[in-house]
Amino acid sequence: MDNRILLRMCKMSGYEMPFIQEAFEGEWVVPLGPNVAGFEKDLEKFLASDKKVVALSSGTAALHLGLLGLGIEAGDEVMVQSMTFSASVNPVRYVGAIPVMIDSEPYSWNMDPDMLDMAIADRIRLTGKRPKAIIIVCLYGMPADYTRLLEVAQKWDIPVLEDAAEAFGSSYAGQKCGTFGRYGVLSFNGNKMITTSGGGALVCPDDVAAKETMYYATQARLGYAYYQHKDIGYNYRMSNISAGIGRGQMMVAEEYIAHHRHRQAYYREHLGNAAGISLHENPSSIYDSNFWLCTVLIDESLRIRGEENAYASAITSTVGGAGGVTGQGTSIHTDCEPNANVEAMRLGLAQLGIESRPLWKPMHKQPVFSDFPSYVNGVSEDLFHRGLCLPSGPYVTDKDADRVIDAIKSLII
Ligand SMILES: Cc1ncc(COP(=O)(O)O)c(C=O)c1O
Repeated sequence: MDNRILLRMCKMSGYEMPFIQEAFEGEWVVPLGPNVAGFEKDLEKFLASDKKVVALSSGTAALHLGLLGLGIEAGDEVMVQSMTFSASVNPVRYVGAIPVMIDSEPYSWNMDPDMLDMAIADRIRLTGKRPKAIIIVCLYGMPADYTRLLEVAQKWDIPVLEDAAEAFGSSYAGQKCGTFGRYGVLSFNGNKMITTSGGGALVCPDDVAAKETMYYATQARLGYAYYQHKDIGYNYRMSNISAGIGRGQMMVAEEYIAHHRHRQAYYREHLGNAAGISLHENPSSIYDSNFWLCTVLIDESLRIRGEENAYASAITSTVGGAGGVTGQGTSIHTDCEPNANVEAMRLGLAQLGIESRPLWKPMHKQPVFSDFPSYVNGVSEDLFHRGLCLPSGPYVTDKDADRVIDAIKSLII
C-alpha cells in the first residue's frame, strides 16, 4: 500500500457530482451557466463584502485581468512582492509592464511597507514616473500587513491588486483576504484550499468593473449579433463544469480551512519544543491565516543527518521520484538555495515517504526576472534558506502529522 504523505492534495467532498450532473442534464457544458453564476454568488457571500466576483479559468488569468482593469500598460512599473510564486509576477510581463520586486518583513513574510514606501520614492526619483500598481501577496495564506501597506498605497495614490490565491478564508482585522485591494485574486487550482480542478476568480470593486472583466474574459466581444471587436480579448471564463466542482467544494470550505488551521496548531504543539525549529505564527491577533501550507523554519545551527552530503549531487530525489509529485525533482546549485540542513531534512523526509518542499524562492533571485529592479533587505532570502513546507490539507490526519513530527525529530542529530 502506498503510505506516502504528500504535501497537499485536493479532496473531493462528494457534494460536487450533483452540480456536475445537473450541468450535463441541462447541456450546460460551456464556459457559462448556472454553476458559474451560483459559484460567483457563493464566493461573494463567503467574502462578506459588497465586491463582485467573476469566475475565471485560473488565478493567473485573474491577475492578468486585474492588471488590465487597473489600466496597466507596456512600460508601466508595478511594485510586486518578491517572496511569492512566479504567477504573481508573470502577468506583469504579459502586459509588457516592468515588475519592481519588493522584499518582505519577517513577521507575515509578505511585502515590507517601509521598503515599499522607500522604493516608490526611489522609482519616482529615477524614472520621473509613479509606479502604476502594487501587487501584495498573502503567502501561504498569511495576511499581509494591510494597515501599513494600504497607508503607503494611499499616500502615493497607487492602486493595490491583492494576490490572495493562497489565502482563501484568511482574514485581517476580521475582513477576508481578497477584498482589500481595488482588485483581488483567488485561485482554485488543484492544490489550493478549495479547487475547481483549475480555476480562479477576480474580486472586482463594483458591477462596472465586473462587467469589464467579463468582457475581456470572453474575447472582448461587443454586443452585436455578429462578431465585432475593438479590443484584444482573452478566453479566460470558468467552465460550468469546473464551477460545479467549486459549488460542491464551497459546502466544505469552512471545514477544510479549520482542518488547515488545526494542522499548523498540531505541528506547533508537537514540534514547538524541538529546539531550532519554529512554526510560522500569526504575528498578532489581527491576523488570521488559513495556514494553506504549514511552514517551518530550521535554524542554521541545527544539525540534520546527511547534511554534509545534501548537495553532493546536483540531482536529488523526492517522494515522487524523477520530477517529483509536484515537479520538485531537482535541486541545482545556484547562488541562492536552501541551507544544507534544510535540504538534508527534505531528502531525509522523502526517504521516509514524506513530501516537503522549500519555501518560494524570491523572484529577485529568479533568472527570468534578474534584469528587473528589486529592493531587498535579506528577509526573503533568509526565509528561503531556512524554510520548509510540510504536508498540509484535508488528507493529512493527526496520525500522518505524528509520523511527520517523529520523522523530523529522528533526523535531528
Ligand atoms: C501566490 C500565487 N499567486 C498566483 C497563483 C496562480 O494561481 P493559478 O494556479 O490558479 O493560476 C498561485 C498558485 O498557483 C499562487 O500560489
